[in-house]
Amino acid sequence: MQMTDAVGNHSIESDTTRRIAALSRNDKFFHVVLAQQFDRTAIEQLCRLADMIRAIAGSRQGTQFLRTLLSHRRAMLYFIQPSTRTFLSFTAACQVLGMPYNDVRDRSTSSESKGESEDDTIRVLSQYFDLIIMRHPGEGFAEHVANILNDMPRTIPVINGGSGKDQHPTQALLDIYTLMRSFTVSGDAAATSNAHQSREARPLEARYSRNPFVGKTVAFVGDLKRGRTVRSLTYLLCRYPGVRLLFVAPPELRIGEDILGYVRRHDVEFEIGEDLREHLPECDAVYMTRLQDEWDVDGESKKIDYDRFSLSADAAASFKPGLAILHPLPRRNELDQRLDTLPQAKYWDQVRNGMWMRSAMIASIFNVDLAIRDHYHAYYTF
Ligand code: NCD
Repeated sequence: MQMTDAVGNHSIESDTTRRIAALSRNDKFFHVVLAQQFDRTAIEQLCRLADMIRAIAGSRQGTQFLRTLLSHRRAMLYFIQPSTRTFLSFTAACQVLGMPYNDVRDRSTSSESKGESEDDTIRVLSQYFDLIIMRHPGEGFAEHVANILNDMPRTIPVINGGSGKDQHPTQALLDIYTLMRSFTVSGDAAATSNAHQSREARPLEARYSRNPFVGKTVAFVGDLKRGRTVRSLTYLLCRYPGVRLLFVAPPELRIGEDILGYVRRHDVEFEIGEDLREHLPECDAVYMTRLQDEWDVDGESKKIDYDRFSLSADAAASFKPGLAILHPLPRRNELDQRLDTLPQAKYWDQVRNGMWMRSAMIASIFNVDLAIRDHYHAYYTF
């Protein structure tokens, strides 16, 4: 049994290593498709870069500098599944970096309605643009696109802005960025709006070098079976030894066994729960999610009592003072609006952090991260 497990685990890991290699260039991510592509060093570099872009964008001169960086590149946002935040934060990130973009949000307006295959649509896009950012209902489709692009004479990167029920790596990166910012004491000092305030910049360099998750309990709550953001964020949190994960869901909507296998292989402590109230006092972060009933086959979610997986204002008495409440949004009733103004509510920060993190990711793919670092050190440190 032991042997079979070891061999089984080994083959899962080597398959992931092979998949990650196909998404990388020079040992760095080129396509962004899977959360497992990001180790601690890569996560921390992106968080620092996001902080620098945020600080630089606080001044007119800085904004103008950032806008020169990718003005010679073009992005295509191919979003054929509904989106507000991911779509808009990517368009904002393109604007921050001066990168012109176009979008396709409805297949009926493209030649796919004349019978062109999706694969050919991707091949065509690769001839006009330098980056494809996409959201698609198909699990694994973004990875398939990366493979199509790898086979084209002109290879361009793809960023996965959500693939089916499977992965949402860019949301996970902005989520972990938000968690790290709320768990580190220097708080918002790095989010400076001018060079003077940024005399606080030194802590920014140190901020992500230690593991802020040691001894912290992060609870995922709700529809964990079909929520792709939870899956991707779990992969990232497994990079931080000492974190404890709690998966609180109705029995029908439990987190997938594949994810639990990954958590086990990374020796991360976890617990499965079915009642949020019972676990709330032990949480340092709660990650709320909505019911993903658009994936229902036969209205099966209607039978689920989702109230036990909701956070109401009455629960605030059992919050730890430093609790961070996250939600990828959109929300329904699972997150009480009366919580919005509490210091523990971090979901609006998540929305804004997404813009900076996605800017950092695009800057990093196109290797302008060094120019940003140089500019930051020239103008924002002393
Ligand atoms: C999420 C998504 O699309 O997976 N939203 C987002 O990107 N912020 C979560 C959801 O739709 O529930």
